[in-house]
Amino acid sequence: MNNKLLLESLNALLDNEPDFIVAMANTSAFIFNEIKNLNWAGFYRVVDGNLVLGPFQGKVACTRIKKGNGVCGTALKENQTILVKNVHEFPGHIACDSASNSEIVVPVKNKSGECIAVLDIDSPLLERFGEEEKEFFEGVVKILEVNL
Ligand code: SME
Repeated sequence: MNNKLLLESLNALLDNEPDFIVAMANTSAFIFNEIKNLNWAGFYRVVDGNLVLGPFQGKVACTRIKKGNGVCGTALKENQTILVKNVHEFPGHIACDSASNSEIVVPVKNKSGECIAVLDIDSPLLERFGEEEKEFFEGVVKILEVNL
């Protein structure tokens, strides 16, 4: 399935689902099963200004990440997508799964533009994510944000 069809399928899957936990759970399963070469796909929620593990697919992960720490905490602090071609070159990267080599993290924002969660995707391949993937995962998050 191409990216446009994947986004249409996700949109249909989440249509009229007001519960954010349900939406995060099915989105992580959808991404993990439909996108090749991933070893982790899931969410961290913002709780009291820091990140707490949410619905995900993949190996067990770190449960709490402080704002500004790692790739996820940096995405929260900067409130923008962080694309890391080689996690071993990212200062402060948090290695939950030693198989990860590249990563992309996209903030999920409410209607006021505040980051309320982050979508975190990891790959065992180096440079797995580029501009096309950035656009795709930002599209995924836009679908989620409709119901926030
Ligand atoms: N690598 C992330 C931590 C979360 S795990 O990849 C699931 C980071 O540096 O923030």
